Amino acid sequence: MRRVRPLMVAFAGGEAGSWAVERIETVAGVPLEPVSRLEMIESPATHGLNGRSAWVLRGVTSNDRYASRGEQDALVSKQEPLGRMASTRAALIPITKSEAWWELPQDERRRIFEESSHHVATGLEYLPAVARRLHHGRDLSEPFDFLTWFEFAAEDAARFEDLVNKLRATEEWVYVEREVDIRLAREEETGRPCRASRSRVRPRRVDP
Ligand code: HEM
Repeated sequence: MRRVRPLMVAFAGGEAGSWAVERIETVAGVPLEPVSRLEMIESPATHGLNGRSAWVLRGVTSNDRYASRGEQDALVSKQEPLGRMASTRAALIPITKSEAWWELPQDERRRIFEESSHHVATGLEYLPAVARRLHHGRDLSEPFDFLTWFEFAAEDAARFEDLVNKLRATEEWVYVEREVDIRLAREEETGRPCRASRSRVRPRRVDP
């Protein structure tokens, strides 16, 4: 079986980047400085970004904590990769949960996450239209515990809104103490066919 290594990812907000910021809304807690562009960089070597950006948020992909075997299988069979040509809209939603959440034992967090809040069951209804990747920041001493990233086509933007509103009304969100909702858009690339949802737009990579 191919080994999947954790991937270090940085999100740099400033005046440059392949994504244009459509809006930044502070849902809870301390806001982020407003910016006009955003870049996602898949590389551990991101030190040079600090001077050029208003802010840089870092996270790392990891193993699942809560998803059961059945949920993992359902996710794998439905989810599509990031970078689809038709995904001209994206959302970066950095989230921090409260100390009360982190003090709970694992089984209680799982109960709130799924048995009470139906996070995975609800999310699955929006796949494959929405492609997603979860980045963890807590163990890196980052300001946000999670950097959640979603990509979708312009015509699915209203449905994505519906998903976000459903999740925010759950018991899980009682434990969210900081959340900033950043909505993004990029131009559809011309000159290449857009029909294949498997066509990829690669994020920027920085060689270490
Ligand atoms: C697009 C549909 C979605 C699906 C299929 C989905 C699925 C998942 C799964 C499977 C996990 C748990 C991974 C694990 O076992 O550790 C997770 C975690 C998480 N998701 Fe989603 N999700 C979706 C949408 C969203 C949205 C819209 C948000 C934010 C508004 C969000 C925020 C989070 C957060 C913060 C976590 C980490 C929870 C924790 O570890 O405490 N998700 N998601």
